[in-house]
Amino acid sequence: MKTVLVTGCAGFIGSNFVHMLLAGGREVKVINLDKLTYAGNLANLAAWQNDPRHVFVQGDIGDRDLVARLLQDHQPDAVVNFAAESHVDRSIHGPGDFIQTNVVGTFNLLEAVRAYWTTLPSPASFRFLHVSTDEVYGTLSPADPPFAETNPYEPNSPYSASKAASDHLVRAWHHTYGLPVLTTNCSNNYGPYHFPEKLIPLVIHNALAGKPLPIYGDGQQVRDWLYVEDHCRAIWRVLEAGRLGETYNIGGWNEKANLEVVHTLCAILDELQPRADGQSYAAQITYVKDRPGHDRRYAIDARKIERELGWKPQETFESGIRKTVQWYLDHADWVEGVTSGNYRNWLAQHYGA
Ligand code: NAD
Ligand code: TYD
Repeated sequence: MKTVLVTGCAGFIGSNFVHMLLAGGREVKVINLDKLTYAGNLANLAAWQNDPRHVFVQGDIGDRDLVARLLQDHQPDAVVNFAAESHVDRSIHGPGDFIQTNVVGTFNLLEAVRAYWTTLPSPASFRFLHVSTDEVYGTLSPADPPFAETNPYEPNSPYSASKAASDHLVRAWHHTYGLPVLTTNCSNNYGPYHFPEKLIPLVIHNALAGKPLPIYGDGQQVRDWLYVEDHCRAIWRVLEAGRLGETYNIGGWNEKANLEVVHTLCAILDELQPRADGQSYAAQITYVKDRPGHDRRYAIDARKIERELGWKPQETFESGIRKTVQWYLDHADWVEGVTSGNYRNWLAQHYGA
C-alpha cells in the first residue's frame, strides 16, 4: 500500500481528494496535515474519522519539526501539497497570511521534505506534488489563446503572487537539489465542500437565504470551470505518471462569464427549490463595486495533460453544476456548520465581529 502525506485536506479540494482515494478503493494510506484555519473543517472528512487508512494531524506546513516527525513516523512515498490560503478577496484585505502559508510555509515544507528524501533507500521513486492555480499566469484578453504551460508568470493579486512564488520555490528545489517534484496549475474548481465565500457556493447559499447575489463590476469576467472530482483525478494521474520537474495545466475547456454562471445557478434553483413568491432567484442579483485589480479572463489549454497522461474531465459544466446545486440543497447542515465554527472565530479575530 502507498502512503501519501497530503496537506490541506480539511479544505475544499483536499477533502474531495481524500474521498476519491479512500472511497475509490485505491491501495493508499493518507496522512492528512491541516492547520484547520477558517477554511478547514473536519466535517468534510467525517466519513473517514475511524478509518485506519486516514490519519489526521492538526498542524502547520511551516512547522518543520512537526513535518519532519510525520515523515519519519509514516515514511510516505509521496507528499501532495494542497495547503494554502486560497481566496483572492481575502488576499486583498490581508495579504500577510498568504505570504506566511503559501510562500514561507511551502519553503519550510520543501526543506523538511528534502531532508527526509535524502535518507530514502530509493529516492528516485519519491514524489512531491505541488497543487497550484492558473491565476499565476495573470489575465487574458478575449482574443488571447488559453494559458499554456509555457506562458510567463504574471500574477496580479496577492493570492496569485504568493502561489507563483511557491511554484518557483518548488521548481528551484528540483533544479538545484534534484527533489522529484511535479506541479499542477488548475482552473477554477466547483463542487461539494466548497466554502461559501467563493462565487458558486456563495450564490447558492445567498439565494436560498434570500440575500443579494453580488456581481462584481459588469459580471463579464470569464473563468474556466472544472468539477472538483475531475481535478482530483488529474492530480492522481500526474502523481502516477507525470514527468519529473514538469508542470501540467488542468482545465475542462469550460469558459463562462460570471453573470452566465449566476443565471445558470438561479435557473437550477428555480426548478429544484422555487422561491415561495414564484419569482426567479435572479431577482436577487445585485451589482456591486468591482474587485481591485480584477483579472478579466482565465482559460486553460489542457492539451499537455490530455496528450501525455490521457486525462480528460468526466463531467460537463451542465452535469457538474446540477450535481453541485443538488449537493448544497441536500447539505444545508454542512453550510451552517462551516460558517459557524472556525469561520465565526476567524471573523471575531480579524474584525471583532
Ligand atoms: P481551501 O481554502 O478550501 O482549503 C485550504 C486548506 O488548507 C484548509 O483546510 C486550511 O485549513 C489548510 N491550511 C491553510 N493554511 C495552512 C497551513 N499553514 N498549514 C496547514 N494547512 C493549512 O482551498 P482549496 O480551494 O481546497 O485549494 C486547495 C489548493 O488548490 C490551494 O493550494 C489552491 O491554491 C489550489 N487551487 C484551488 C483552486 C480552486 O478553484 N479552489 C483552483 C486551482 C488551484
Ligand atoms: P472566486 O470564486 O472568488 O474565484 P477567483 O477569484 O479565484 O476566480 O470568484 C470567481 C469570479 O466571481 C471572480 O471573477 C470574482 C467573481 N465574484 C463575484 O462577482 N461576486 C462574488 O461575490 C464573488 C465571491 C466572486
